[in-house]
Amino acid sequence: MGAQLIDGKAIAAEKRKAMMSRIESMKQQGFVPGLAVILVGENPASMSYVKGKIRDCKEVGIYSELIRFPDTVTEERLLAEIAELNENKEIHGILVQLPLPNQISEQKVIQAIRPEKDVDGFHPINVGRLVTKQEGFVSCTPAGIIEMLKAIDVPVAGKHVVVVGRSNIVGKPASLLFLNLDATVTICHSKTKPLSQYTQQADILIAAAGREGLIHAEDIKPGAIVIDVGMNRNAAGKLVGDVSFEEVKEKAGFITPVPGGVGPMTRVMLLENTLIAADRQNK
Ligand code: GUN
Repeated sequence: MGAQLIDGKAIAAEKRKAMMSRIESMKQQGFVPGLAVILVGENPASMSYVKGKIRDCKEVGIYSELIRFPDTVTEERLLAEIAELNENKEIHGILVQLPLPNQISEQKVIQAIRPEKDVDGFHPINVGRLVTKQEGFVSCTPAGIIEMLKAIDVPVAGKHVVVVGRSNIVGKPASLLFLNLDATVTICHSKTKPLSQYTQQADILIAAAGREGLIHAEDIKPGAIVIDVGMNRNAAGKLVGDVSFEEVKEKAGFITPVPGGVGPMTRVMLLENTLIAADRQNK
């Protein structure tokens, strides 16, 4: 294997350990950081993500509330719940697990959350703050990617970062974060042709398109840092990324595995954002 593996699981575990003393000192100051997670319906993937988030909170000592609704819930009921959580002093962060059923507007729900409690960083105010490089909340996956690169001491300024994917949750905020760190950023998507012409130029390649086998060895520059955000089920039901790991690892400088790469970093950044929210609300 040519590439060094970036062990997101280990980096996230270190971060959780470091958080515990911060949380202890918050408790000594008289407040406990609190996160509310809203889950609508019984989508198995969403249930599993939410369970993980609640478990992570318990592990580090963050107070958490799981609020569940059936998938027939009205938008009005959901908005009323958010309005209540916005006023709840014990809750510093609010997360509504996506996707939501069709009768509910995701944008309306996201915009109902007070930006100061929007630990997902999805509210347009927080997106605007990212665009203008102001203090706010940044979506957990892109924030986790930056933390990962910091952990392996990779400077970003002046690097060519190629982001494949333009989602509101990953591709767009990741591109802005790298731009704010003085990288040169190229954003590619499903209509980019030919994709490999761009990916081959990347010092840092972010694969976030959600397509198994999108990136092969011939698509990367030798020694590139390859960050795989993909979470796909292959024909055998195994969790795989967007990158053909076995071949790309022979050519890359660094590579993230799936699972055990970006996923654990996303989870830990939600805890981090909750602590930041609690700190800001208790100033
Ligand atoms: N569904 C898939 N990813 C996410 C996420 O990061 N946050 C929320 N709220 N829902 C999701």
